[in-house]
Amino acid sequence: MLLPNYQEAKKRTHRDVEIDHYQFDPALSHLGDGKTYYVKTYGCQMNEHDSENIRAMLEQLGFQPLPDDDYENADLVLLNTCSIRENAHNKAFGMLGRLKHLKAKKKDLIVGLCGCMAQEEGVVQEIMKRYRFVNFVFGTHNLHRLPFILKDALDAHQQNIEVFSEEGNIIEDVPVKRDHPYKAYVNIIYGCDKFCTYCIVPYTRGKQRSRRPLDIIHEVEQLVADGYQEVTLLGQNVNAYGKDFDFEYRMENLLEDVAKTNIPRVRFMTSHPWDFTDGMIDVIAKYENIMPSIHLPVQSGSDRILKLMGRRYTKEKYLTLFHKMKERIPRLAVSTDIIVGFPGETEEDFEETMKLIETCQFDNAFTFIFSPREGTPAAKMKDETLLSVKEDRLHRLNERVNHYFLKNNQKMVGSIVPVLVDGYNQSGKTSLFGYTDTNKLINFDGDASLIGKIVMVKVTNAKTWSLDGEYESERVG
Ligand code: 5AD
Ligand code: SF4
Repeated sequence: MLLPNYQEAKKRTHRDVEIDHYQFDPALSHLGDGKTYYVKTYGCQMNEHDSENIRAMLEQLGFQPLPDDDYENADLVLLNTCSIRENAHNKAFGMLGRLKHLKAKKKDLIVGLCGCMAQEEGVVQEIMKRYRFVNFVFGTHNLHRLPFILKDALDAHQQNIEVFSEEGNIIEDVPVKRDHPYKAYVNIIYGCDKFCTYCIVPYTRGKQRSRRPLDIIHEVEQLVADGYQEVTLLGQNVNAYGKDFDFEYRMENLLEDVAKTNIPRVRFMTSHPWDFTDGMIDVIAKYENIMPSIHLPVQSGSDRILKLMGRRYTKEKYLTLFHKMKERIPRLAVSTDIIVGFPGETEEDFEETMKLIETCQFDNAFTFIFSPREGTPAAKMKDETLLSVKEDRLHRLNERVNHYFLKNNQKMVGSIVPVLVDGYNQSGKTSLFGYTDTNKLINFDGDASLIGKIVMVKVTNAKTWSLDGEYESERVG
């Protein structure tokens, strides 16, 4: 049994990170024969991608995906959890409650929990006390050990908890079963060293570690060969890419080399404003296949709150970067994240955020009420603002950001834009959906032969969260 420890998780050592390779033990290839699995994923794209690895590993063990996608029929249920806000926490515990009932009826059900919540001391203690039926728990640093952890749990007939507090090496060649046939996630950097005071990620995902450039480029080249149209380069803070190398190779170099693979579309997320260089802006502007869409979380428009958050920039610095990007990258769409109700946020602080919205007029924004995360500095800060006041601020903020989503979408009506077609949308058999280069959801009529292609679509109508369009032609250029 290996339990998480926050003191350890907080440490940042100078230990060199090495590269290991995933190895599968063929002796385990029948462990799941005749059994089905269900993986429930909470949280961010990083977790979604981890679940793609998990599914591939489970299938190597002989487990089969569920034909009906109903967890009640599965032999193994694995929850890949998220710690970012209390809401995600509660959802996972709610699901554990339902699984407890299910297991009472179905004694052979195997239940596992992994992801960010597994890295939290309090969560693991709770599972050991109140959720004894959970067969196994593993953390974000030892995902690749899933086959062994599962085998040990089954052999020992008792709860097996294996969570490393400190990150290990980078593991290459973990198998992957991708969710999407044309769009792929590619990890480029793990962990985060920013320690924003509200954020639990530096504790759950460990120190910043960049994958080697060639490993990334080879993965993208293989995706191109397999017909993929889009890659999203993933990391908690992708702009810090390469800072841990002892050679000069940074995000701008990687972006350029990935663009040169000729994958039709390159996206990346998430970017911390602090590390966004002019060189990156130049590369994004230069390459047609790097999409004009940047997610740039601002979190607050008040310098006082930004300081308390430990964000390392002022509103002015953010705006300077924002305007520089908009000037140099044609048609750029910028999206953001905003937290309201951070401890001590006054009405004046909030008004600063509202003013920033008027200036930036974001194309998309994810807005949250501050959620105290145990072990982070902000969780200990005095917070006297009533929840009702925070809810009111969130409501006012959402009204304003929504206004600009619609306004920006309306500006697009009449233009012809490139769209990567995902498939049929839920509403009908003729209506397709896809995403523009600026990452806007668009619905339009067309036939199945367009799925997986980048085509030109004329925007005919704007809504707050999506566009309607008409198929125009094959891709131009
Ligand atoms: N409370 C509310 N929102 C948070 N985020 C991160 N931590 C918290 C928290 N404790 C938000 C930030 C971040 C996004 C991924 O989640 O806006 O950019
Ligand atoms: Fe969390 Fe992002 Fe700040 Fe890192 S940069 S601590 S992931 S909010």
